[in-house]
Amino acid sequence: MKVIEMIAEMKEFVTKVKRQGKTIGFVPTMGFLHEGHLTLMRKAAEKTDFVVASIFVNPLQFGAGEDFEEYPRDLERDLRLAESAGVNLMFTPGVTEMYPSGYGTTVEVGSLTDKLCGRSRPGHFRGVTTVVTKLFNIVEPDIAFFGQKDAQQAAILNKMAADLNMNLEIKVVPIVRETDGLAMSSRNKYLSPEERKAALVLSQGLELARNFVAAGARNTADLISEITDFINREPRARIDYVEVLSFPGFSETENMHGQVIIALAVFIGGTRLIDNMVLEV
Ligand code: PAJ
Repeated sequence: MKVIEMIAEMKEFVTKVKRQGKTIGFVPTMGFLHEGHLTLMRKAAEKTDFVVASIFVNPLQFGAGEDFEEYPRDLERDLRLAESAGVNLMFTPGVTEMYPSGYGTTVEVGSLTDKLCGRSRPGHFRGVTTVVTKLFNIVEPDIAFFGQKDAQQAAILNKMAADLNMNLEIKVVPIVRETDGLAMSSRNKYLSPEERKAALVLSQGLELARNFVAAGARNTADLISEITDFINREPRARIDYVEVLSFPGFSETENMHGQVIIALAVFIGGTRLIDNMVLEV
């Protein structure tokens, strides 16, 4: 696996790969790789001829007081794992390579960004869409792979690619979970053993919702209050949001019908975790 830190070298390498007539699959990440990331990489290897991944903890998508500085990093381990998952080229730029002094352009998607995580983390999605646009321009992928774990992010990036006529396809891969149900996340590393147990309220809250819907529940407010009560029984949990929206439109509905997404953000101790489930009602 080749590792490149500089944008100019990436562009040269990508041009060579394209000249060989190979399709490029791309998996952007912030590193500290887990089975969720590796599943995206394996999928990319299955669908395209040449797999590029990136590791870049993007300061632009972290708010003041968030965990940019502490975000877990382990490049050596990441490189080993990525190679074993079929990555051919890893792009690991530094912050000043991506945002040199005087950097001034951002990309803002005008819909979907004001709700859920966008409401709790102002500016977060502007940071995501800006860095992903830059990465797309550097890597020029045919297909880019994102996880359903970050369902709103995937939807916003899809909208961005469509609105800006980007010449690529976006594929969304299902959530990869630990055997007990916890959605895999680099941030799970922050959890103490007690918090790790408490964190199960997210996936269990979603399972509870699935059961309510299977039993005939249709009223959105009632379902939200059942999930909220369940999560609030865990003393280590503090809810950021519990929402039930239409999917893939992410609009509010009084009564559930068709596809809905149940989306959660919950602080477990100091760690903010998200999870979601799409149901056909
Ligand atoms: P990161 O959190 O590292 O996630 C990288 C990719 O892995 C995202 O597409 C995310 O949805 C996916 N992913 C994470 N956990 C997953 C899981 N349990 N199952 C399936 N997929 C999972 O998301 C980001 O980084 C950044 O915002 C980024 C897109 C790289 C822009 O900086």
